[in-house]
Amino acid sequence: MKVIVCKDSDEMSRAAAQIFAQRIRKKPNIVLGLATGGTPVKMYKELIRMCKEENLDFSKVITYNLDEYLGLSGDHDQSYRYFMNENLFNHININKANTHVLNGKAKDPAAECKAYEEAIKKAGGIDIQLLGIGGNGHIAFNEPGSPKNSRTRIVDLTEKTIQDNARFFASVNDVPKQALSMGNGTILEAKEIVLIADKASKADAIAKSIEGPATEQVPASLLQSHKNVTFVVDKDAASKLKKKYEAPKAAKAASKGCCCC
Ligand code: F6R
Repeated sequence: MKVIVCKDSDEMSRAAAQIFAQRIRKKPNIVLGLATGGTPVKMYKELIRMCKEENLDFSKVITYNLDEYLGLSGDHDQSYRYFMNENLFNHININKANTHVLNGKAKDPAAECKAYEEAIKKAGGIDIQLLGIGGNGHIAFNEPGSPKNSRTRIVDLTEKTIQDNARFFASVNDVPKQALSMGNGTILEAKEIVLIADKASKADAIAKSIEGPATEQVPASLLQSHKNVTFVVDKDAASKLKKKYEAPKAAKAASKGCCCC
């Protein structure tokens, strides 16, 4: 695993965007796995800037998002489809038909999950997967205890995740209690994985994921078994790591993974 510790969330966002930009330039029809949430917003802004100012070309890029709330349609302002359109897709030259988010309103959610897995396989698998991390160590909506080999499926959100996500809704009662989510097994099949985290509220989860034992109780720790994973974290999120990790010399250098453990 590589660990890049950035001085703040701006540097984290630039470093992660550089990694994605480099991979897109190398393979224009790349398959990206994308995440929602507060953490990637500035990284997406940087990718939008690169598209506008540095000719980063998304015209052939294909995307699959990690998850979607069950029961929300794509035009609900808290749905993850809406988030992706607002925070990335509407501002870059991507073909919307190439962007995939699970349908939270599917008549048969289990069939929707199965079809999503098949579509990812048909696309050749995910080349690079972006992840955030929950305060409890979840990745996508794989909560503690989710099996290592789990696939895209309907999941129950924990009380902690419901509370954490309540900030985006009018009240905690409006937060959906279930979601459709790629499984840990689906995520671990991506060829490369980049996990980003900022803020002290993620410090425990980051320390357990990187330096603790690999356990289903901390889903992000399962990434330890993957051959090509980079954690890009800011110093607050890194504050409980015991080992020392170097800072990137410049955001650009981060794309080469300048500091490893
Ligand atoms: C979102 C997702 C979640 C978030 C995690 C962190 O698609 O899969 O696992 O990455 O909950 O969320 P933020 O970034 O809001 O702290």
